[in-house]
Formats: sequence, C-alpha cells, structure tokens
Amino acid sequence: MKKNICLLPGDGIGPEILAEGVRALKAVAAKFGHEFVFEEALIGGAAIDATGEPLPAVTVEKCLKADAVYLASVGGPKWDEIPPEKRPEKGLLGIRKQMGLFANLRPAMLLPELAGACLLRSDIAARGLDLIVVRELTGDIYFGEPRGLETRDGLRTGYNTMIYNEEEIRRIARVAFETASRRRNKVCSVEKSNVLETSRLWKAVVQEVHADFPGVELSHMYVDNAAMQLVRDPSQFDVILTGNIFGDILSDEASVITGSLGMLPSASMGASGPGLFEPIHGSAPDIAGQDKANPLATILSAAMMLRLGLGMPAEADAIEQAVRAVLREGYRTVDIMEDGMTAVGCARMGELVAERI
Ligand code: IPM
Ligand code: MG
Repeated sequence: MKKNICLLPGDGIGPEILAEGVRALKAVAAKFGHEFVFEEALIGGAAIDATGEPLPAVTVEKCLKADAVYLASVGGPKWDEIPPEKRPEKGLLGIRKQMGLFANLRPAMLLPELAGACLLRSDIAARGLDLIVVRELTGDIYFGEPRGLETRDGLRTGYNTMIYNEEEIRRIARVAFETASRRRNKVCSVEKSNVLETSRLWKAVVQEVHADFPGVELSHMYVDNAAMQLVRDPSQFDVILTGNIFGDILSDEASVITGSLGMLPSASMGASGPGLFEPIHGSAPDIAGQDKANPLATILSAAMMLRLGLGMPAEADAIEQAVRAVLREGYRTVDIMEDGMTAVGCARMGELVAERI
C-alpha cells in the first residue's frame, strides 16, 4: 500500500527522535512491501523562526491532505517570552482543533522489560499497570469562551470557561467504550460533578451512551480521587475517560509512574480524516542535538499510526516486538538506564529497532 505521511519534527529533540521513527517506518515498508511517502511541514518554534507563526496555513493544508500526521515535539525556552497567542504550544492546540482531533488516546503500561524503572512500591507495581487515558482534546477550558485578562474593580483578573455540550461528550464517550470493548471492558469516567455543572452534564451523558455498550462496566470517579487512586492502585483502571484539562494532568501522572515517560506514545483521532501520532513527552531542550534522547516513544507512536491510522496491525506489531526485543537485549538510553545494561544514544537505539523489524 502507498501512504502519505506528513512529518512535523518541531523543536528541541523533535527532529532527532522523528528521524528514528521514520527509520522504523522505512524498515516496515521494506519488510511488508509498502510505500510510505514523507513530506515535512513546520510547527511550533521552528515555524515561528521561519514564518513568524506557530502554525502556518500550509502546514494545516499538508496535514489534512496526508493519510497520517507524525509529530515529534514543540516548544522551548527560546520562545517563552513570546505573547501567548503566538507561542509554539498554540501550534499544537491549533493543529488539533483544525484537524478536528477530539479523541486523544494515551496508553500507559509497565513493560516487564522496564519493571525496575517503575516509581511505585514493588507490591503495587506487581499488581500491574496497563491503562489508557481517553482524553477529550478539542473542547473544555482549553478552548472555552469567554476567556481573557482584564482589569475588574482595579484588580488584574484572568478568566477561562470550562464548557462542554452533550454532543462533544457523547462522541468521546463512544470512543472510550469502543476502546474498552477491545481491552478489558472497563471504563472509569473522571470528572468533578460534586462541584462543576460541566461535570454533571458529562456524567449524565456518559451514562446515556453507556446504554449502547452493555458489555462494558462503567464507573465514575472525581478527579482528585482518580489522581490518588492512580498512585495507590493503578491496576484497577482499564480505560479512563475524561475531559481535556483533567486528561492533560492525569495522563502525565499515569505515564510518569511507569518510570518511562520516554517510552509512551499517543494517538489523536477525529471523526474522519487523518489522525495525528506523537510521543507524550516534550521537546527536552536541555538535551537537544546531543544524541541522548530516547526515540522509543516516537517509534511506538509510529506503531499506533500503523494500527489506528493506517489499518496495518501486523506492521504495528512488528514495531512493538522490535522495541521489546531491543530492551530485552539490554539496550537503554540514559533516561531508562539501569546497572548492567548497555547505554546507547538516540540514533543507535533507532538503528537497533530498525534492524529487528
Ligand atoms: C500535552 C501538552 C499540551 C497540552 C501543551 C503543550 C499545550 O501538555 O499534549 O499534554 O496541554 O495539551
Ligand atoms: Mg500535557
């Protein structure tokens, strides 16, 4: 099959990790007889430097025309002083919104090969951690109006609006139930309905959608409790369904407790059109250009692209198995280094995975 993939290398370690993801995809193409055509576009700080805009119109055009979008990371201290509406992060929020990517899937799991890196007490880790955060991505307080900064009664005042309509909740709830039915059939909907009207609507709509998925067990949890339960006993979760801001926070928490933030991929999908696939970690400007970054989250994001975006499950398996083989053989980048393992840089790690594909 021939597929067009739009590459968004972005900032910091972005270009070096994305190069390793592309290497893995080329290995997959060779092995399975596909043709992947890659086209690059600018986003984030790199786009600001070249054009003055974090998300040039031509980038959006290229992304919408592609079969899948493959993003590395955006942002860095160089652009911290820029006004908020022009910052690199606006590029990321803009591409999500303009591509209609309302469903963000963020798996967090404890690979047996990396059990030693887990931040949890060993008896808690022994119960397992294999969950996926299904985060709504184009609504909530991130995009809600009105928003602003102004002076009220002589005081500088900032405000944002947490807002969801029932259709926005319905479509993300469906994604969560469908995801659970391919996993362990459990959805935990996370909100703050003891305080927020938005959350009361969220809970009611999720319960309505649940009627269509009788085989999936539904539970509800307040977000503060969910944050606590994630550390106390993450084995209780299969699919966590939540809104944009709660999902932002909980997905960082879920991923960091595995001890391997540099390992975790994500997918962002719309109702139709191309999906966007990216590692969940940031641009790590402190180690950019030093061949130290861990490319595995990016490489595993290519596996999510193949499985969810391009309908190539066997090809996705080939990448995931190659990554696990490399870890079993004891190769580690510095972020996941343990005694007795072989330290490798970003490019070498990418080569090792490609060889095993
Ligand atoms: C994420 C990031 C982004 C978000 C930032 C960079 C805008 O934290 O993808 O989780 O808040 O969504
Ligand atoms: Mg985040």
